[in-house]
Amino acid sequence: MFMKREQWGSRPGFILAAVGSAIGLGNIWRFPYMAYENGGGAFFIPYLFAMISAGIPFMIMEFTLGHKLRGAAPRAFSKLGVKLEWLGWFQVFIAAVIAVYYVAIIGWAISYLGYSFTQSWGTDTNAFFFSEYLQLGENSPSKLGNLQMHIVLPMVLAWGITFAAIFTGIKGGIERASKIMMPLLFLMVIGLITRVVFLPGALDGINYLFEPDFSKITDPTVWSAAYGQIFFTLSVGFAIMIAYSSYLPEKSDINNNAFMTVLINCGFSITSGVLIFAVLGYMAQDQAKPITEVVTAGVGLAFVTIPAAINLLPAPYILGPLFFLALVVAGLSSHISIIEAVTSAVIDKLNWSRKKAASVVCGVGFAVSMAFATNGGLLLLDLVDYFINNVALLASCLVELIVIGWLLKISDIRDYANDLSDFSIGKWFEICIRFISPIMLAVILATNLWKTFNEGYGGYEMSDLLMLGWGLVAAMFVVAVIINVTSKSPSQQEG
Ligand code: ALA
Repeated sequence: MFMKREQWGSRPGFILAAVGSAIGLGNIWRFPYMAYENGGGAFFIPYLFAMISAGIPFMIMEFTLGHKLRGAAPRAFSKLGVKLEWLGWFQVFIAAVIAVYYVAIIGWAISYLGYSFTQSWGTDTNAFFFSEYLQLGENSPSKLGNLQMHIVLPMVLAWGITFAAIFTGIKGGIERASKIMMPLLFLMVIGLITRVVFLPGALDGINYLFEPDFSKITDPTVWSAAYGQIFFTLSVGFAIMIAYSSYLPEKSDINNNAFMTVLINCGFSITSGVLIFAVLGYMAQDQAKPITEVVTAGVGLAFVTIPAAINLLPAPYILGPLFFLALVVAGLSSHISIIEAVTSAVIDKLNWSRKKAASVVCGVGFAVSMAFATNGGLLLLDLVDYFINNVALLASCLVELIVIGWLLKISDIRDYANDLSDFSIGKWFEICIRFISPIMLAVILATNLWKTFNEGYGGYEMSDLLMLGWGLVAAMFVVAVIINVTSKSPSQQEG
């Protein structure tokens, strides 16, 4: 039976959903410490270069693919060439894996939202997070320990909200949720920032973030971080934007929508950086310490440093909940999009109803995500996140660029987008897709592979790296290929 494809109700609705997908934990929690670790102000050079050479062209390309081919990633790629369906499934698997650990971080943020009203994390926020909250003991990514009910419960809530949005559909569920969540998020962040920038020491913190360390510019890891961050933060290369744009109405301004999504997202990242570093600057001044001693990287920034800073803020019972609610809302709107990438692929492939597909995807996703609600959940998350972002996602983006830029006619994509759009994009688009981005990505990916082969990652056991890192990525690839070779052609699938 042929089902009519759902559609977004309005252009702002689509943009808010796309921006909601892009703006997530990656912006508030990841971007500030990435910028800090990779040269402060100097990081903006590779970051903006990656945004212009890869982010914007990728967004235009994926919006065009979704709009033109009217399918989630596997169907869209299979319509380009039957032998390409695997790439769509590989991207869907990346989304599925991200979804199951991403929801754990949202769960932690929900718990911390509760704690923030009374700052019940106490004064030693490091011990609180790792020992009391996560109950991290002698665990490893493969020795997970027991389920922690206080982590399971907030994750149930996060899954419940995602499920409700996906189950209800594009217009009534995802679009409606985005229309509530995104304005709320912007208001909260504006409220927070207007208060914290006036705190003593805040400007020193902001200066610190923007102070360039140009010696880092020649370091390939800084460029790798910038490109990796751009793909993750823009939700491109892992099936999301293709799925979202497959629900666009026929008359849709591709170029404008793509520019808006990228610019709003990257502007939001920089705003979050300012917010976080204003708070850190205040904290450093309050404790009479240099800022380098108060800042922590990774997960610690949101769940150790920020709670410690909230303890010192005026009216912490207002600013604390505002911060964690912003983190939860940003995370949820992205989680919804990640799950939609998977659900829409299942609907296309199996011709299931949305309700059935949403129930199965969220049910299975929930069960798998429980691995991250255990004592060793954080370690598993760290390992899987590393391989997904530094190997699988970069490889997926590189293959997508080669397929679209070299095996197909890239000028067709540009003409298609330009025909629909108010302003046209020029030849630079093709140069970015065919030359600049693939060359950069190939070098970065090769460096990452070489480094990880030789040095491993994070001091984890070789068996864990082989099974949960390399093994996971290889399994995703093999299953994607198996689905591809056993598939019918897209026209047969559409029935
Ligand atoms: N784009 C989403 C984020 O940045 C996945 O968190």
